[in-house]
Amino acid sequence: MPKPRVFVTRHLPGDALDQLADKAEIAVWRNALPPGRDELVQEVARSDGVLTLLSDRIDDELLDRATRLLVVSNMATGFDNIDVVAASRRIVLVTRTPGVLSATTAEYTIALMFAAARRVVEGDRLVRSGEWKTWGPEVLLGRDLSGAMLGIIGMGGIGREVARRARALGMRVVYFSRNRKPGLERRHRMSFLRLDELLRESDFVSLHAPLTSETRHIIDDETLALMKSTAILVNTARGPLVDQGALYRALSLGRIAGAALDVTDPEPLEPNDPLLGLPNVIVTPHIASASVATRSRMGRLAVENLLEALAGRVPKHAVNRDIVRPWRERVRKSGVAILGDMIERQPD
Ligand code: DGY
Repeated sequence: MPKPRVFVTRHLPGDALDQLADKAEIAVWRNALPPGRDELVQEVARSDGVLTLLSDRIDDELLDRATRLLVVSNMATGFDNIDVVAASRRIVLVTRTPGVLSATTAEYTIALMFAAARRVVEGDRLVRSGEWKTWGPEVLLGRDLSGAMLGIIGMGGIGREVARRARALGMRVVYFSRNRKPGLERRHRMSFLRLDELLRESDFVSLHAPLTSETRHIIDDETLALMKSTAILVNTARGPLVDQGALYRALSLGRIAGAALDVTDPEPLEPNDPLLGLPNVIVTPHIASASVATRSRMGRLAVENLLEALAGRVPKHAVNRDIVRPWRERVRKSGVAILGDMIERQPD
């Protein structure tokens, strides 16, 4: 029986691809830029599994052509690039890589909070431009994190790691999420607030919610108007959580003090995007999880999820578990060489 064919949409750091190459016939897209639409559709149509990144759009039209496809393994904790309903309709399993990036993403969130509050990027620009003349008691005054109130929107794996670090820095922490988490409230000495209360009270607002129809533009003209004029908005989750036109208005009119965005809508922003003309905005290229160790772990977990699925087993990080029964039946009938017990999992 032939080995299953897997398409990987970019080269991955670490040894993840070696593990995959042992067990499957793999085709890797080796360019720095993602495959174009046609290439993606054609490659996926010829594959039993695909390892995707958040820049690959897996939609109804593509899935319609992918009659062999059994699993989409997304190397990300978010999966808004995949039409999961369309995948479920075609009995294709979707998996993701939560957990392994939470600490690294939380560290970067804190780094952005410091950078915005202490005006690190403005300081760097001042020195490079030659405009900095002398130490001065009023040069680039910023704000302290210690003692400030942090409002976290979304209390999943990353939100809780941010809360832990913020508490260690002496911040007060409040949060808003779909469900209350009493255990975490006790552990991190933080309280739950309604969204409007959180926005009114916080000195820093940090977004950690998934992108869904409910959370799209959760930060808009109305919610920005509730924030303190001294507040800083941080987004390391997904760009479309923020209505960027509204953010531009709030920042340019001084309704809030600053923003630090690792994610935008679109990515990248056009170089002439008005946000980039504002001094009180920091924008970075979606790198919150980009440490050597974490990106290697994400790659390995994405490969493990894929191999588990191609062994006919339901990976721990499957998103659409409701299709498990018919999916198992599809795998059985598919004729791919089931990989058996050949997979070593990394510890969580
Ligand atoms: C994710 O995993 O969803 C992150 O955005 C990747 O950095």
